[in-house]
Amino acid sequence: METTATHFIEAHGARIPALGLGTWELSGHVCSRAVEQGLRLGYRHIDTAQIYANERDVGEGIRNSHIRRDQIFVTTKVWTTHFAPNDLIRSAKESLVKLRLSEIDLLLLHWPNSHVPLAETLGAMARARELGLTRHIGVSNFTVALLAEAVAACPAPLVCNQVEYHPFLDQQKVFAACRSHGMALVAYSPIARGNAKKSEVLTRIGAAHGKSPAQVCLRWLIQQNVAAIPRSSRLERLAQNIDIFDFNLSETEMQEIFALGSPTGRLTTTATAPAWD
Ligand SMILES: NC(=O)c1ccc[n+]([C@@H]2O[C@H](COP(=O)([O-])OP(=O)(O)OC[C@H]3O[C@@H](n4cnc5c(N)ncnc54)[C@H](OP(=O)(O)O)[C@@H]3O)[C@@H](O)[C@H]2O)c1
Repeated sequence: METTATHFIEAHGARIPALGLGTWELSGHVCSRAVEQGLRLGYRHIDTAQIYANERDVGEGIRNSHIRRDQIFVTTKVWTTHFAPNDLIRSAKESLVKLRLSEIDLLLLHWPNSHVPLAETLGAMARARELGLTRHIGVSNFTVALLAEAVAACPAPLVCNQVEYHPFLDQQKVFAACRSHGMALVAYSPIARGNAKKSEVLTRIGAAHGKSPAQVCLRWLIQQNVAAIPRSSRLERLAQNIDIFDFNLSETEMQEIFALGSPTGRLTTTATAPAWD
């Protein structure tokens, strides 16, 4: 049987465990406990960011789990105020100090920032990789046009674009762009921030498989070869969200879930967001 330890999304030499643990809004003991519990349950991919102010707690959870470092894929993100080249390298080093790691697995630009030339920022990302601060680099919240610009400007391969993706948001354009660049799509807010349970369709499909609406969302993403990083602070939900490798959604069910998607289903609202596809 497949598990999160055997199911990877591959892109430009990166092997990203398809199911990861998000940590946005988790901090302190709640965060380190969720990371530790998640790793013990079988999660092998942890998503954090400098702006979440929890890299220390994530690092503590990793150490407390006693899982070997080379078994865990750690992503962190550089905040937009650190996109000037020297700032970016400093920021990556600070993340390593807070995480108490010698290397990040995947370093992302958290959001696009039109105030700093993209080529300069991406040059610094490639430099961070050369310096051994991170094994892989990528972006987050990039549109189709920004992805094309980034791929053309970056001296090293970009392995992923992390974007909001769940059944209520149609992301086919940016997903097609990721595929055409050989990049993985990593889905954030994959259970629509807990809103999956409000859907009659997801509830009905889940009931047919003995699964919850959240599990149906995650399975639907994994079956598209998308990585998903649901967050939970509760042990039973951490366990539930990883228990998605023992059932299959039929093609009819997949299509029924695709039909829930709309371009207006986005939950992320921020004034600095790019013009979405
Ligand atoms: N790159 C970016 O700009 C960006 C933006 C947003 C998020 N992210 C990343 O993506 C991760 C996930 O996204 P997210 O945190 O926005 O949303 P999410 O994972 O879709 O949803 C998390 C919410 O759902 C609840 N939940 C978890 N499992 C559940 C289940 N099985 N049934 C019902 N409710 C459940 C959680 O509450 P409990 O804790 O009470 O279980 C929490 O309130 C983040 O944590 C972060 O790492 C990245």
